[in-house]
Amino acid sequence: MYVEHRTLTWTLMLLCLSGALCSPWKVEYLQQHICALKGSSVVIPCSFYYPDKQIVQSVLWGHERYNIYVGPFIFDSKAIDNSSRFQYIGNKVHNCSLKIYQVEHDDRGKYTFRFITNSPEGKWTGRAGSILKVVDLDVLVSGTTKEGANVNLTCTNSCDGGNLSSAFTWFKNGELTNEGPVLYLSNMSTTNSGNYTCSLKTHSGATSAVINVDVEYGPKNTSVSVRPSMEVDAGSNITLICSSRANPPVENYTWFKIDNDDIMAVGRQPVFIPGDDGQYLCSVSNKHGSQNSSIVTLKIKEFWPTFTRDVILIATVAVLLIVTTVIAVTRLNIKRTSAPEPDCDEDIQNANYVNLPVFDNNQSQEGNPYEETTAEVIYTTVDFDTKRKPNMEQQMVSHTGDDSVIYSTVCRNQPII
Ligand SMILES: *[C@@H]1O[C@H](CO)[C@@H](O)[C@H](O)[C@H]1NC(C)=O
Ligand SMILES: *[C@@H]1O[C@H](CO)[C@@H](O)[C@H](O)[C@H]1NC(C)=O
Ligand SMILES: *[C@@H]1O[C@H](CO)[C@@H](O)[C@H](O)[C@H]1NC(C)=O
Ligand SMILES: *[C@@H]1O[C@H](CO)[C@@H](O)[C@H](O)[C@H]1NC(C)=O
Ligand SMILES: *[C@@H]1O[C@H](CO)[C@@H](O)[C@H](O)[C@H]1NC(C)=O
Repeated sequence: MYVEHRTLTWTLMLLCLSGALCSPWKVEYLQQHICALKGSSVVIPCSFYYPDKQIVQSVLWGHERYNIYVGPFIFDSKAIDNSSRFQYIGNKVHNCSLKIYQVEHDDRGKYTFRFITNSPEGKWTGRAGSILKVVDLDVLVSGTTKEGANVNLTCTNSCDGGNLSSAFTWFKNGELTNEGPVLYLSNMSTTNSGNYTCSLKTHSGATSAVINVDVEYGPKNTSVSVRPSMEVDAGSNITLICSSRANPPVENYTWFKIDNDDIMAVGRQPVFIPGDDGQYLCSVSNKHGSQNSSIVTLKIKEFWPTFTRDVILIATVAVLLIVTTVIAVTRLNIKRTSAPEPDCDEDIQNANYVNLPVFDNNQSQEGNPYEETTAEVIYTTVDFDTKRKPNMEQQMVSHTGDDSVIYSTVCRNQPII
């Protein structure tokens, strides 16, 4: 078949050169080079010619990866597969266009058209073919993906030589977020992190590769957790755990101990077991910065000081009890020995002071009883013995309703009034 085709070609060429009729057999590829975005659909436009009066019986499209004369063919009008991505949109007259849906990278290469007529010699393959190139939409990332920084994502369709006139749409995590060739991400925060793609507005199937934007930042929320608690008994261990959010993760941990004005680095792991109590903090860093935790104050309750304190407390209570008892007993003895009470005048030590109401209605006054009480109080002169003992009792009986009071010295064992 190949040889026969060859012979025919030579014959036709000679006919052409000799000025005879040029071959009526021809396949015309209207575009020799075709660029398609992956995921989009593309048409390979094509026309074909053959001697009049012949009838086209079958049309076929081949790909350079197979034998273009014998197949297999990617399209064969004798075996139509409607689910195929390769569909013939031409006819059996002169239009031999082929449409490829959902273009894949593997679809690249040369496509050739072949047709067969009812004539015994009527077989023709247009060898020149159309060459298909398959590209992705490219995304150019400029700027640093760091918190507070700006990043521009530019979508380019390399099929049109990076021409920005194509209508692009941007998707973030699969959701439409913007339109236009450039996506501006300014003053970025972690909320800008995500998977971005750009597409052709007209062919949403044509999609760029996924661009993962991962906004980086220095340490945040640096804190120290203390296990089991900030105050433990001597003998049990305290564990300090430093945690922080950072992107990239924390690279360096430093534990500091603060002793008055002295700051010492005491550890370099995220977990630290301090040997003694005091004030600690952790400092973390990655390539974007550093942050300190707040200070934690640890108390290790020592056994001896606690014990001593308790002993002192118990001793004090005991001493107070003894003193009180002694005083009480002494007083009781004084009472017993001094009875019967000596003459009142002679023993000022056991004097009682009593507020005695004066039942003199003439002196009664209106107004604030307290005020009047102060004003109307009659004081008797009481000579305090400078050597008086503390057990001398003073009793102030206040009758608020009374108009006046008289302080008088009375004898304890004498009836009042
Ligand atoms: C071939 O047919 C297709 C589909 O009908 C049409 O879009 C295209 O313009 C035709 N090509 C020619 C060269 O007539
Ligand atoms: C950037 O964003 C932060 C909050 O995310 C805001 O506090 C700050 O003012 C913004 N800066 C500018 C220049 O817009
Ligand atoms: C982004 O893509 C990566 C890799 O496919 C995936 O692991 C991640 O979960 C995606 N992130 C989001 C926010 O969808
Ligand atoms: C982290 O720190 C920021 C302030 O820097 C605060 O607004 C936020 O609530 C903190 N997050 C947590 C989980 O503590
Ligand atoms: C963290 O604390 C250390 C020790 O006190 C100090 O030298 C350092 O400057 C602090 N860093 C920050 C970011 O505050």
